[in-house]
Amino acid sequence: MAQATVTDRDTARLAELIEEQQEIFLARQTKSAEMLARAKKSLAGGGTSSWQIARPQMIWVSHGSGSKVYDVDGMEYVDMHGGYGVSLMGHGHPAVVKAINDRGPLGTHFAQPTEDAIWCGEELARRWGLPLWRFGNSGTEATMDAFHLMRAHTGRDYVIKIEGCYHGHHDSAMVSVANDEDEIGPADHPAQPAAGTGLPKAITDLTLIAPFNDLDYIERLFADHEGQIAGMILEPIMMNAGIIPPDDGYLQGLKDILHRHGALLAFDEVKTGLTVGPGGATKALGVTPDIVCLAKAIGGGVPCGAIGGTAEVMNTIAEGGYDQVGTFNGNPLTMAAVKATLETLDDAAYEHIDKLRKIAVDGIEKLIAEYDIPAHVVAVGAKGAVTFSTEPVRDYRGFLKIDDRFSNAHWLFQHNGGVFLPPWGKAEQWLFSVQHTEDDAQRLVDNFESMARAFRA
Ligand SMILES: Cc1ncc(COP(=O)(O)O)c(C=O)c1O
Repeated sequence: MAQATVTDRDTARLAELIEEQQEIFLARQTKSAEMLARAKKSLAGGGTSSWQIARPQMIWVSHGSGSKVYDVDGMEYVDMHGGYGVSLMGHGHPAVVKAINDRGPLGTHFAQPTEDAIWCGEELARRWGLPLWRFGNSGTEATMDAFHLMRAHTGRDYVIKIEGCYHGHHDSAMVSVANDEDEIGPADHPAQPAAGTGLPKAITDLTLIAPFNDLDYIERLFADHEGQIAGMILEPIMMNAGIIPPDDGYLQGLKDILHRHGALLAFDEVKTGLTVGPGGATKALGVTPDIVCLAKAIGGGVPCGAIGGTAEVMNTIAEGGYDQVGTFNGNPLTMAAVKATLETLDDAAYEHIDKLRKIAVDGIEKLIAEYDIPAHVVAVGAKGAVTFSTEPVRDYRGFLKIDDRFSNAHWLFQHNGGVFLPPWGKAEQWLFSVQHTEDDAQRLVDNFESMARAFRA
């Protein structure tokens, strides 16, 4: 993997820019600093999720509207963080607001299904080409159900996951996620490091690790564990390491190998679902797995999760072989918001997003060439990322080699220039919503130019 050659001059310049931009950032975030100090007395670490604790400082939000989000210090941003890939509908979308307002007075929880759940199941079946669905409340629940279901359906214990992929924070999935180079073992035999603490080795040992885009390694895993592997879960387009697309033929190749060995294929479309197209990566790439996991964008900003599958696999749920359960599953408020989201995301919505993506990609690619920045853009549907490497990245080990000072500087320039990107600049992507405008996309490009110009000054 050829990487950007970062010279001593580049390193020194990036360090200067990061310091300058952090000072600007902190000077603007005084109320957020006060809130953080107060929050630390009642919220562990001062936040409501450990991944909200970001450098240089956690930002407290007051509200969002359309494509914009506002912090407690009164700054307005084009929101391209999108709540970690949720806000495909933007903020306060009239259809979602109406659905919630209409449903609220009628009762927000019964633990009995409402009619909207049937509509949502039918619509997801139409879009994903998988007939049977269940709902939950998060991406973690959806992938946890996928692990359980693959095991229940096959009667086998091992599940394969891809090195460097995040599938939520349940034990089986928290293996070799964002682990450091010294933990992940040799490239030709990846280790199975726990991704954090509190994860029993007896469970994490059952999660086998494979490199992305490597079919031969999957064959090797089956040779070593014949008759013991229940299935494999992966993001069809990897989205926790920038954006890494699958090689041509990789997904179909996986499906063929897994099925030949009596194992199942599960796509984690928690991030890609709806954001890369109306039927997710499944429809866009033309390979239908046995199980699909959805969450994030499908709820229009309301907590949600869903799992869909073939009739054969989902009958394991239908016939009581696996109890997919949850008090809040199919919550009426969630179902109303999912329905409003799916009704809104029609062809015209995706055409609008395509236009925005083109402005961002063409604009940034032109600047990369003009200022000779060692980077390239990877974008699909509403998602995109600047990867600070001259060569395409094929897997997590390639991603690890990228110097994260570029993305750190880029994140700060975007933020101080009024574009809110996800706090983990290197790993995460931008997200357009149906309410973003061409001016919003141009602001992303203009901020990139500010950084490129400053870097070359
Ligand atoms: C690919 C993927 N799967 C699953 C999850 C877990 O989703 P949640 O945070 O809703 O539990 C995430 C969260 O970022 C994700 O990116």
